[in-house]
Amino acid sequence: MRKILVFSLALLLSACGLQAAGTAALSLVPLPASVEAGSGEFVWKNKQKVVCPGYPGDSIRKVCERFAADLQQSTGVELRMAKKGRGAVVLTLDAELAPEAYRLDVSKDGIRISAARPAGFFYAFQTVKQLMPRNVVAGKRADAPAGGWTVPAVSIVDEPRFGWRGFMLDEGRHFFGKETVKHVLDIMSTYKLNRFHWHLTEDQGWRIEVKKYPRLTEVGAWRNSRILAWKGTQPDGQRYGGFYTQDDIREIVAYARERFIEIVPEIDMPGHFQAALAAYPELSCTPDQKHEVWLRQGVSGDVMNVASPKAVQFAKDVIDELIELFPFNYIHIGGDECPTRAWEQNAECQALYAEIGAKTYRDLQGHFYRQLEQHIQSKPVAEQRHLIAWNEILGSNTDGLDLTVMAWVGADKAAQTAAGRGMDVILSPQIPYYINRKQSKDPSEPLSQGYGNETVEAVYNYKPANGVSPELLPHYIGVQANFWTEYVIEPEFLEYLMLPRLAAVAEAGWTPQERRTYDSFKQRIQADAEWYELCGFDYGKHIFK
Ligand code: ACM
Repeated sequence: MRKILVFSLALLLSACGLQAAGTAALSLVPLPASVEAGSGEFVWKNKQKVVCPGYPGDSIRKVCERFAADLQQSTGVELRMAKKGRGAVVLTLDAELAPEAYRLDVSKDGIRISAARPAGFFYAFQTVKQLMPRNVVAGKRADAPAGGWTVPAVSIVDEPRFGWRGFMLDEGRHFFGKETVKHVLDIMSTYKLNRFHWHLTEDQGWRIEVKKYPRLTEVGAWRNSRILAWKGTQPDGQRYGGFYTQDDIREIVAYARERFIEIVPEIDMPGHFQAALAAYPELSCTPDQKHEVWLRQGVSGDVMNVASPKAVQFAKDVIDELIELFPFNYIHIGGDECPTRAWEQNAECQALYAEIGAKTYRDLQGHFYRQLEQHIQSKPVAEQRHLIAWNEILGSNTDGLDLTVMAWVGADKAAQTAAGRGMDVILSPQIPYYINRKQSKDPSEPLSQGYGNETVEAVYNYKPANGVSPELLPHYIGVQANFWTEYVIEPEFLEYLMLPRLAAVAEAGWTPQERRTYDSFKQRIQADAEWYELCGFDYGKHIFK
């Protein structure tokens, strides 16, 4: 009865041109590009057929099988796969659609989906799950509602605004481990996020096995304090650390790819590099001194010696192993917060400064990246990668470099500068997209980095690429939320601070700006509280009634 009322309301509102309010009743996050509510509903029954077209690697069939397995887990309904013929669910290839786009038509007679690629079908099924009770999104078994397991009639034409919809997790400061990463990937995939930026190295810990440099994980993955000293806080002397073996990495890459998420590894160089220097002091500007995995928060001045041939070779070797492990065509090489003081005092760096005619010591960083770029470009095409760096790199000589800029500090201005220089940009503005910062003024809220207070509304209301001129717009390839972990002690901090703000960023990445309103989001996100509760997630409850 309640459902019928909701749908009549949806119909009435869409008839009045108030479609955003009407679609709120459908609780879809991110909101699709176009939604028209229909009348009636499709009812799932055992043994219904799913007709999936052939595709290289059988990948569309795999998408269908995954959906069928999820549906069975949460409802008990068993579907059958078929290659052709009539079916309750029929998938059709439509090469005209964009790579992640889909069309979804649900009526009492069945579910029809078209897409050009497996990703589009995957997103259509994610939408189907959100059209059902939230135990389906949660993957939790529940008793069938009175009218059976149904999907409301609807017609959706959908495609994302941006190709890059990301989330970054800092595992240098806090090591979460495989299960948490998979959990994050699951949440991302429900919200149709498609890039997991894995910040794997920091002053405080190196988290990825590199075969050629075993000390990175033997030494660099471990520190002598669980908490990081800051202002009044002192190191606690507890040994702390961990890392991913190359087998772990392969497992997680495969897990992400099943969810249409590509992983972008970050090796932060030449700053935020102290854990590597603890393992290999010869890569520093002071090889004779002792270097330790850092026990503090902040910006360390102990950075890589970018003028040292050994350090350049190290970077190339690490990149070579990353290329083997990560099939996606981007590698992030950091570049943020790198003080140049150590270079200014080092004879090798001084000589390089003169040799390349540098204007500032920051140019040494551009020179270093240029060598890495040349290294990548010299590889067979299939192994070439694009490099990404944080926006500080704009202060260096980057002329002609194939670098994508991740804009975080003064993000909008930095992005304009980068795009003006012909570089692609990803918007991850510190304020409000650093979702490790607090999300309310509630004094019981976990401590976050800095004194921020980025409410879900503030996060939602950021308008990516607002006012950017049409010539520069093609360089804006996407948006990303970042999560830094200086203060994280318990993994629950992550869930709590991520939810529901990650959904707000996902919607900025997916939904056309003109369709986005916070009021509509606030109504649609309410349904997700049930999912979070069913799974026992910690989350910011402030906007849930
Ligand atoms: C950064 O927040 N240091 C990229």
